[in-house]
Amino acid sequence: VTANSSGSVVLDPRAHADGSVDEVFGSLRGSAPVVRYEPDDFPPFWSVVTYREVKEVYTNPDVYGSTRGVLLRRSELGEDPGGGLTLALTDRPRHAVLRRLLAPLFDERCARNLHATMRQDVCDVLEEAAQHDVVDLAHAVSERLSSYLVARLLSVPDADVATVCRWIGESFADGRPITSHPLLAPYLIELVYDRMERPHTDLVSLLVEGDVDGEPLSETEILLNVENVVGASENAGLSLASGLLALMTYPDQLGLLVERRELIGPACEEVLRWASSASHSMRFTRADAQLAGVTIPAGERVVVWLRSANRDERVFEAGGEFRVDRGPNRHVALGVGEHVCIGQTMARHQMRMVLEEVRQSVESMTLAGEVEMIASIAVNGPSRLPVKLKLRGNR
Ligand code: HEM
Repeated sequence: VTANSSGSVVLDPRAHADGSVDEVFGSLRGSAPVVRYEPDDFPPFWSVVTYREVKEVYTNPDVYGSTRGVLLRRSELGEDPGGGLTLALTDRPRHAVLRRLLAPLFDERCARNLHATMRQDVCDVLEEAAQHDVVDLAHAVSERLSSYLVARLLSVPDADVATVCRWIGESFADGRPITSHPLLAPYLIELVYDRMERPHTDLVSLLVEGDVDGEPLSETEILLNVENVVGASENAGLSLASGLLALMTYPDQLGLLVERRELIGPACEEVLRWASSASHSMRFTRADAQLAGVTIPAGERVVVWLRSANRDERVFEAGGEFRVDRGPNRHVALGVGEHVCIGQTMARHQMRMVLEEVRQSVESMTLAGEVEMIASIAVNGPSRLPVKLKLRGNR
């Protein structure tokens, strides 16, 4: 492919679903690591495919800013309405203040406090999935586990968790903003008003009670930040689903994991790298920039492809192979720098639990139908994963 003709493949959701984009990324890494596209349906942007340059963009927020959007959107949609308001869509110094406000909810201590609940959710979901002859793991396990996690961070009462998780799932299924869901949106608004009167230790309470430079957050800011976290957490389920698919596709790797318990940690990292569930991040240049010898003027969109950086042959030996014992594994699946995924500790704990259950409780897990991958340039993962799942013994 030439650099120019590659643009249509890089932006074709089907090429992401069937994996053919990986070949194009591979060839661009060798010949055109930083290239400008002027597509018909999207605004012009610079595409960055190599590991080193992806990291350089992430770690220079004064040059590559987040305020005007972090995902490439079709031209007809215009710029992101959350720009300047949510954690993901702010730059220093506001970003640092928001991040400090929310960080306590996502730290190691909180993840540990949630352990018993998370473990129970994982076991319940697996047990229910195993009751069916063939179960779609993309929905029955992965999508549900990421929604469960976020429902816990919002302290949704036990009696509402299943319903709220279903609404979150529906919002993702039709791709509209979560805050436009006819039932979820009023529920979240109620939650905001409730926490104003009765503070909890949860995401909404932190946003309700917090301030930025002495100014409380507006209701819109609170809701958009809740939406940001709920939306971003979808990644956890997608990575889990890709990980389960990889273990079924490479039974030797599953065997290795079952044999060697100490591989759980490295296997989690390999699942994150392999899945690259967040496909890209976008930035806007705030000043003229130099990247791989190319000059990018100020005010331009720059898209970094994590899926490509995570397979860069200069960093990952046989990056196209799934190896649960890979090490070192310095993938960029969770981003890098000050916007690095705030949910990473939770996501890692949950993935660990799922892999532990796969080792201990799953007797067999085999594909039982056609797998479909999500056709999107923003997220990667299965949209349909039909599986026969059998748990051990009396479970
Ligand atoms: C395996 C699962 C996950 C992956 C692969 C992932 C990936 C990412 C990536 C690549 C970024 C950086 C975006 C950027 O710099 O523009 C990010 C940021 C973020 N993630 Fe995750 N994420 C995962 C799980 C989660 C979970 C479970 C939550 C919440 C419960 C979450 C919430 C967020 C938020 C709020 C941000 C914005 C942080 C900031 O801008 O400071 N993520 N994530």
